[in-house]
Amino acid sequence: MPDIAFLLNGAPVHLDDVNPTRTLLDWLREERGLCGTKEGCNEGDCGACTVMVTDAEGPKALNACILFLPQLHGKAVRTVEGIAGPDGALHPVQEAMVAHHGSQCGFCTPGFVCAMAVAHAAGAEDHDDRLAGNLCRCTGYAPIIRAAEAAATQPVPEWMAEDLTPLKGAVGEPAATRQNHPPYVMPRTIGALAAWYQEHPDATLIAGATDVGLWVTKGLRSLEPVAFLGGISALKKITAMKSQIKIGAMATVADLREAIAPHHPHFAEMLRRYGSEQVRSAATVGGNIANGSPIGDSPPALIALGATLHLRRGDETRTLPLEDFFLAYGKQDRAPGEFVEAVSFKRQPDRLKCYKLSKRFDQDISAVLGCFNVTVEGGEVRAARIAFGGMAGIPKRAAALEAAILGQQWTEETVGTALGALDQDFTPLSDMRASADYRLEAARNMLVRYFLEDVGAQASVLEVTP
Ligand SMILES: Cc1cc2nc3c(=O)[nH]c(=O)nc-3n(C[C@H](O)[C@H](O)[C@H](O)COP(=O)(O)OP(=O)(O)OC[C@H]3O[C@@H](n4cnc5c(N)ncnc54)[C@H](O)[C@@H]3O)c2cc1C
Ligand code: FES
Ligand code: FES
Repeated sequence: MPDIAFLLNGAPVHLDDVNPTRTLLDWLREERGLCGTKEGCNEGDCGACTVMVTDAEGPKALNACILFLPQLHGKAVRTVEGIAGPDGALHPVQEAMVAHHGSQCGFCTPGFVCAMAVAHAAGAEDHDDRLAGNLCRCTGYAPIIRAAEAAATQPVPEWMAEDLTPLKGAVGEPAATRQNHPPYVMPRTIGALAAWYQEHPDATLIAGATDVGLWVTKGLRSLEPVAFLGGISALKKITAMKSQIKIGAMATVADLREAIAPHHPHFAEMLRRYGSEQVRSAATVGGNIANGSPIGDSPPALIALGATLHLRRGDETRTLPLEDFFLAYGKQDRAPGEFVEAVSFKRQPDRLKCYKLSKRFDQDISAVLGCFNVTVEGGEVRAARIAFGGMAGIPKRAAALEAAILGQQWTEETVGTALGALDQDFTPLSDMRASADYRLEAARNMLVRYFLEDVGAQASVLEVTP
């Protein structure tokens, strides 16, 4: 049985003895001569390398530059060369790009066409969001969006359905362990991962590779051994139970966004601005927590919801409040060989609001992210969980601020008096995203905004209608 098997533009591909951190982009261009897939940034930002990757959940637009070959096992890949029909008939998005003059130099066009074909297959109408991860420097976005709108009225061509049917037969069941050099594993069960990682605590776990991909393409690091977690379906589950919601570590940010929307719509709306469609479709909740980034977008929201982290090492499991996982910059409460299994939080009335402040609306890392979950009963603050990203070396609760409003009347005066407490909670850094003073001021203003919105004021420019 081959190490890695997938469909490429409808034809089976079998690969043995591959370097597990070879990117799909390099392989397509160097081994297959499929140079339609372009290299722009090589770090997930520009979308020039977008390809269509179909798995059991359907087609996704992914950035080939930060996608490693083993991540494709059992899936179907379509590059821009495979978007048109076998007889050369253009896909509706290609026809529309021509008709609406959606291309000038053409460098970005293959990535746009692949992203548009995925959105088209999903019947999507949120074209701005779907294409926010594709940069164009010459055409301008209006003709491209017009093309996406025009194509949306056309049916999905028959040949696009081909990817799903022969997939299973073409790849068979993957073996559990690869003995190649460099070595890597693709466990199928949580137990198999736990046993292997306990024996190889220095290994690198690869989830969506939206961080690890850059270690390779920009940091030029060699990683071995590595474990790819994408084959463990039990880690992908998001379960809404009567009393709690549990999110598996391998649930993607896109999965989380969809699942959380009915419960905490503002969390979902914030996630709309997490990276791009391509990044959200790859990045996982477990990776966003485990990387310990002070500017990861999901931890502050989950902390504000009172989330519990579920960790596993071998057969041992333990839980801890999510905020206690983050010890200091770059340091987490995670033992060698221990991994994130899930995160959960209690079902609760929705009081959560998240405000993401970044220089660009789309596809930008937060300068400050504030998440507020304040319970008010009879005009009095009965519970408060407030957490920030970008204000310290870790995602962190604002304990002094919470204490300053707890038990107080929920009034403008209370909020105004409490704002000073943020100075006790945080001593932010100045960096290229924001100065320390700006961060503190913005964080204070976020609480004021939360209060004003709560008492009925309209503060979101996105919601102001003429
Ligand atoms: C273009 C671009 C835009 C981005 N925009 C945002 C943004 O807006 N907001 C944001 O928060 N982040 C953003 N990121 C960062 C990145 O998407 C996140 O940090 C992401 O959640 C990482 O998840 P992953 O599954 O890709 O992790 P990986 O890259 O696979 O892994 C990240 C780290 O976590 C470890 N790891 C992964 N899973 C586990 C596990 N289950 N247990 C233990 N360790 C594990 C890995 O070993 C590695 O150390 C962006 C990245 C890119 C490239
Ligand atoms: S080359 Fe820019 S996102 Fe891949
Ligand atoms: S047409 Fe030139 S970058 Fe988009």
